[in-house]
Amino acid sequence: MNSLKEKIQAYIDDIQATSIENFQDKAANIEMFRVKYLGKKGIISELFEQFKAVPNEEKKDLGKALNLLKAAATEKIEEFKAFVEEHQVQDRTDDLTMPTDFSELGSRHVLSVVMNEIIDIFSRIGFTVADGPEIEDDYHVFTALNFALDHPARDMQDTFFVEKDPEVNKPTDVLLRTHTSGVQVRVMERQAPPIRVIMPGRVFRNEAISARAHCIFHQVEGLYVDKKVSFADLKQTLLYFAKEMFGEQTQVRLRPSYFPFTEPSAEMDISCNICGGKGCNICKGTGWLEILGCGMVDPNVLKACGIDPNEYTGFAFGMGVERMAMLKYQIRDLRLYFENDLRFLKQFEAIV
Ligand code: PHE
Repeated sequence: MNSLKEKIQAYIDDIQATSIENFQDKAANIEMFRVKYLGKKGIISELFEQFKAVPNEEKKDLGKALNLLKAAATEKIEEFKAFVEEHQVQDRTDDLTMPTDFSELGSRHVLSVVMNEIIDIFSRIGFTVADGPEIEDDYHVFTALNFALDHPARDMQDTFFVEKDPEVNKPTDVLLRTHTSGVQVRVMERQAPPIRVIMPGRVFRNEAISARAHCIFHQVEGLYVDKKVSFADLKQTLLYFAKEMFGEQTQVRLRPSYFPFTEPSAEMDISCNICGGKGCNICKGTGWLEILGCGMVDPNVLKACGIDPNEYTGFAFGMGVERMAMLKYQIRDLRLYFENDLRFLKQFEAIV
């Protein structure tokens, strides 16, 4: 006899073989299991329908089997529920083998990258790094560097003075350095030649902030003092620097200029690294880009620092780090450096 009885037995076997451990989402699967067997339109109520049509003499036997099936299903569900309760903690639906969220790593600011590159280039030819205070005095920033007493750079327009004398309401000589040249003086004061140093650092000028000017920026300055240091040494050193920084094909030219602390003084241009010297809107059609100021250390400066200008000569140069980065990475607006906008900063993640 096929039967209903066999069918019922097959269901019972099936139920008993079902293991909750194979269920992915346990709660949902238990409910599906319940609906399948014990739901209103489930297997068991369907079987009870068929049972009605069964001849009376079979009813007793089949009725028993059906009740066993029902009991097996109910029992299984109890078993499932007990399992879930017992494994509540281990049985989370989130995947504990997934890697955690990585905390984002920061990257170096483009100004640090460029500054380090400049330092690297000069260290390869024997320059060491010297540091000095950002809050300086008038003597180291101006007087020892041969600035005349009425030089306009001393003016309030350019220099941030840290204090004012309350009596006369005039600036005292404590100020934020307007260039890193003060470090030259400090190095020469404490060290006898030969001196070969570069001086990277932050400087301050009282300027309105725009795309082309900022009140804070960075410089790297260099100083070389020894016997028989010549203008040719200066030019070769800077040519080496330009080629390392902007590529082997880079050419340089020096134009006469004026700084109180160097004589003669010059400004150095490099051939435009964008158009290769043909003329473009970056070099304003000239084919040249100005990158730094330089010159032979004025004998008055050597004297002020206790170095005999009859025995020693020296050269010095100074460049703006922001400008170097602008030329190298074609950054058009100085303000981007200080805004900490991640969309800007992230563009330099790959360079270290
Ligand atoms: N200190 C100068 C400036 O800030 C740059 C410079 C340094 C020029 C050394 C000559 C020699 O513009």
